Amino acid sequence: MNKYFLSVISILILFQSFTVFDEIFFYEEKITNKGYVVIDSETNEIDKLKDLSEEKVETKIDLESIFKVANVEKGIKISRQCSACHDFSNNLNIKVGPPLWGVVGRKSAVIADYKYSEALKDYDKNWTRNELFMFLENPKEYIKGTKMIYKGLSKASDRANLISYLESLR
Ligand code: HEC
Repeated sequence: MNKYFLSVISILILFQSFTVFDEIFFYEEKITNKGYVVIDSETNEIDKLKDLSEEKVETKIDLESIFKVANVEKGIKISRQCSACHDFSNNLNIKVGPPLWGVVGRKSAVIADYKYSEALKDYDKNWTRNELFMFLENPKEYIKGTKMIYKGLSKASDRANLISYLESLR
């Protein structure tokens, strides 16, 4: 008799806990549903950002904000690092490297009398702000096989100052 009583009790307890579990489950489900909505929109935002590759996002932000405060005078100082190999005058003199007068917006490897490396000929792009910005950070990395032996300008602000100076050469 005692045994039966016990099993009845335990069945009752079991049922009771089912209801409790059910409530917990149901309650949690409600919360998770709400959660999904929030997470969903967040994930979308993150996906959007990921769509533009990280580099693109970085350069976009960099270029806009950094060029806003770029300084041509500072760029002239930095250009001394280039002047051993490059002429900046409108005489378009060829030195170790091609002349840089009007280089911003110019097609790459376009100076007829200059003997460019195969790598730079193959590169085949316009020297936009953005391209110069990337190239000058680490020329040998950006255009593998270039014969421009220069370590690059690691500071974004230095590059922006220099490119602003180059833009003024026209
Ligand atoms: C040690 C010499 C040297 C220095 C220093 C140097 N360059 Fe060059 N540069 C070259 C040579 C050589 C080339 C041609 C590269 C090739 O054909 O692969 C070149 C090519 C270039 C080009 C491509 C031009 C074109 O007509 O397509 C740009 C832009 C450029 N250099 C910018 C710079 C800037 C800006 C600096 C200074 C921050 C600099 N270089 C420093 C030697 C140099």
